[in-house]
Amino acid sequence: MKKRLISLALSAALVGTMLTGCTGNEGGQNPAPVDNGGAEATQAPDAGGETATSAPVAEGGKTIGIAMPTQSLERWNRDGSYLKEKFEEKGYTVQLTYSDNKIDQQVKDIEGLIADNVDLLVIAAIDGESLTQVLGDAKSNNIPVISYDRLIMGTDAISYYVSFDNYTVGKLQGQFVESSLDLANAGDKTYNIEFTAGDPADNNAGFFFNGAYDVLKPYIDKGTLVVPSGQTTFEKVATAQWDTANAMERMQNILGSYYSDGTQLDVALCSNDSTALGVTQAIGTDYAGSNTVLITGQDGDVANLANIVDGKQTMTVYKAVANEAVATIDLGVAILNGETPDASLIDNAGWSFDCAYDTSSYDNGTGVIPSYLLVPTVVTKDNIQKELVDTGYYTLDSNGYPQAN
Ligand code: GAL
Repeated sequence: MKKRLISLALSAALVGTMLTGCTGNEGGQNPAPVDNGGAEATQAPDAGGETATSAPVAEGGKTIGIAMPTQSLERWNRDGSYLKEKFEEKGYTVQLTYSDNKIDQQVKDIEGLIADNVDLLVIAAIDGESLTQVLGDAKSNNIPVISYDRLIMGTDAISYYVSFDNYTVGKLQGQFVESSLDLANAGDKTYNIEFTAGDPADNNAGFFFNGAYDVLKPYIDKGTLVVPSGQTTFEKVATAQWDTANAMERMQNILGSYYSDGTQLDVALCSNDSTALGVTQAIGTDYAGSNTVLITGQDGDVANLANIVDGKQTMTVYKAVANEAVATIDLGVAILNGETPDASLIDNAGWSFDCAYDTSSYDNGTGVIPSYLLVPTVVTKDNIQKELVDTGYYTLDSNGYPQAN
C-alpha cells in the first residue's frame, strides 16, 4: 500500500469537500473483464419498484441502470439521487430503481434493466446472495456490474466493488466506546453493554459487527465490559432488514428481561443509524435508569443527527455517499470507455477524499473483487459543524438540527 497526497483545486463535483489524500493499495489482482457494450437508447423501466425514473435519451448516449435497495432507509435516497444526477451531468441516461427491500422485486428490476439494454449496472443489493442468476444474464449480455456499497456474493459477473472500509466503520464504533469509557484504565470498574447489528443478508453487516467486537472483546473477556443479555454473537444481535421497529422491539425485550431490576445500561453498540433509532426509542420508553446511555450509529441520518444534537445518541460514523457516488461514476465512465481501471484510477482522478484500491479484502466466493474503499469519519455533537456543515454536506436549520443538502 502506498500513500500520497495530491493537491488539487477543490473538485467541482458535488458538495464542498475536505483536503486531499488518496491511498492506492496496488495489487496484482486483475479485475473481471468488462465489455465496452453498445450505445443503445432505452426507455423507462417497467413499473415495479418503489420508483423508477429516467432522463431523456441522448442520441448515441449510453445508459446506466442503477438498482437501489429501498427508499425506507434514508441513505439510499441520497445515493440514488447523487448517482443519477451526476451520471446525467456527464451525458448518460439513467434508469434508477428502488425495490422496497424485496429480494424478488430487485431481481425483477434488474431483469428489466437488462432487457432495456443498459450499458452498465450499479447495484446495491438487498440480499447479497440472491442475484447470481440475474447477474449471469447481465454477464451473457456483456453488461459490466459495479457492486455498490454492499458486496454481491457468489457471482463472477461483478467487475468492481465500491464501498467504504466496512470493517473500519465497526472499528471506529468500538474505539469510540473504548476511549469514551477509558476502558484501558478502568481498573475494577465495569460497564454494561448490549449489541445491535445489521441485516444478515447484507454482507457489510458482519464486517461492521466484527470491527466493533474485535476492539471490545478483550474488555469483555477481562470483565470490564459485561453483556447482561449474554447476546454477543452476530446471529443473536442481527436486525432483519436493518429495520428500526425490529431493533426497538428486541431492545425492549432486553430491557424488560435484564434491566428492569435497576441494572444500569451504559452502552448500546448499534451498527447503524436505523437500528440506533429503534434502540434509542426503546431506551426512551422502556429503560428504568436515568443515566445517558452511550449509543453508536452509522450514516448520519437526519433523525439521528437531531438525536446527537439533543444528546440522545452519542456518535455516528459518517460515510459521505456523495464521494462514494463520485468514485462510482469515475469508475463507471472508465469502464464504459473500455479501460480496465486499477489503482491508477485514484492516481489520475484527483478526488478530494481518501480512497484505497484493495485487491485482497473482498472475496465474493468466486474470487477477490477489486475494490475502491473510502474512509469513514466519526461524527459527534462536538464536530458536526466541522465535519458535516463546514464540508457542505448538511446545513443547520433554524433549530440547529442538520438537514442534508
Ligand atoms: C449497509 C450500509 C450502511 C447502512 C445499512 C442500512 O449496507 O453500508 O451504510 O445504510 O446498509 O441500509
